Amino acid sequence: MAKKTKIQCIGILTAGGDCPGLNAAIRGVAKAAIAAHDIKVIGVLDGFRGLVENRTVMLDNRSVSGILTQGGTILGTSRDKPQRMSMGGKIMDMTTTAVENARRLGIDCLVCLGGGGTQKNALHLHQNGGMNVITLPKTIDNDVYGTDVSFGFDTAMGIATEAIDRLHTTATSHNRLIVCEVMGHKAGWLALGAGVAGGADVILIPEIPYDLNVVAEHLLRRRREGKRFSIIVVAEAAQARANETEADAKQEKKRNGKEGDSVAPSPAINLVQESMASRLARQLQQLTETEARVTSLGHVQRGGIPSATDRLLCTRLGVHAAHLLGEGTYNVMVAVRDGDCRAVPLEEVAGKKKTVPMDHPWISAARDVGTCFGDA
Ligand code: F6P
Repeated sequence: MAKKTKIQCIGILTAGGDCPGLNAAIRGVAKAAIAAHDIKVIGVLDGFRGLVENRTVMLDNRSVSGILTQGGTILGTSRDKPQRMSMGGKIMDMTTTAVENARRLGIDCLVCLGGGGTQKNALHLHQNGGMNVITLPKTIDNDVYGTDVSFGFDTAMGIATEAIDRLHTTATSHNRLIVCEVMGHKAGWLALGAGVAGGADVILIPEIPYDLNVVAEHLLRRRREGKRFSIIVVAEAAQARANETEADAKQEKKRNGKEGDSVAPSPAINLVQESMASRLARQLQQLTETEARVTSLGHVQRGGIPSATDRLLCTRLGVHAAHLLGEGTYNVMVAVRDGDCRAVPLEEVAGKKKTVPMDHPWISAARDVGTCFGDA
């Protein structure tokens, strides 16, 4: 954490997958930086790529006015990393170009709004290019290390919960199993939160490898109790226990005629890959003899207006970042700890993931109301 002299100008960029609340955070940083600290604000377009390609816009009070409620990001975003960027078909280290461009623009500190990858990339610019940076934690996955929560998560959890509510009524009407896949490529926060809030019967998250037979038995027990439908919420990265994955792979091969079958699969058959949720639905349909359907929420979870909670969080995080800039503190992430905004050194955050701890109260509460996690 560095304390230096007052700065004159900042750049703001949004990087990684978008999420609701990015504009509210841009607004928070820019308005407070301009009004409270007389700092000039430059918007960098399309994440780190915009810095390398010198694509920027001036931000003033007018340009960040009216964006609090808007989804997406007015600056655009990309998953490009300065140290490994595709340039004309070649992967190149563009760190020096990014830093030189920032210096030429007079940027004293770069404010980077992003998830885990962005924390790493911002630290890289600081450590390898001497750039001052401040980051804000953004992702619907809620897996940024060092903060109790990241913005975008609350909105996405609300969207997924509403979807589960809607799936409930149709699953009940048809006596079906519905497998609902939600995002979360390394952590199960979204599946867990929305699953508990939506009253899912089964929640499968990457932190708890599941046993297919345990899940099927849970569904059959529900049926014996007179409940002929079930909702299974599954994180995109959920994992079956190792032995099952192998057994299923064998079955899959058999189905495709690669083992014990004289009929070779046509190449066209191999073009379409079965998604994890579809495979789960097929397996559970077979094991429980109950009709199953799949819904994958996908990017719907990342779109649209931010929730009130996210708007508040983004405004507070953005304003806190501006005050840190005003006092000359950088190379930190603005985190939420026990309800307060705090500066956490980037070195403590970058390269780590916040997964769901096994003793998390959402897990114990869900178990106590009979939710199955596929483990026991
Ligand atoms: O923003 C995080 C995330 O939503 C992950 O859960 C998901 O795997 C990924 O982004 C997909 O994003 P994209 O399709 O934009 O690469």
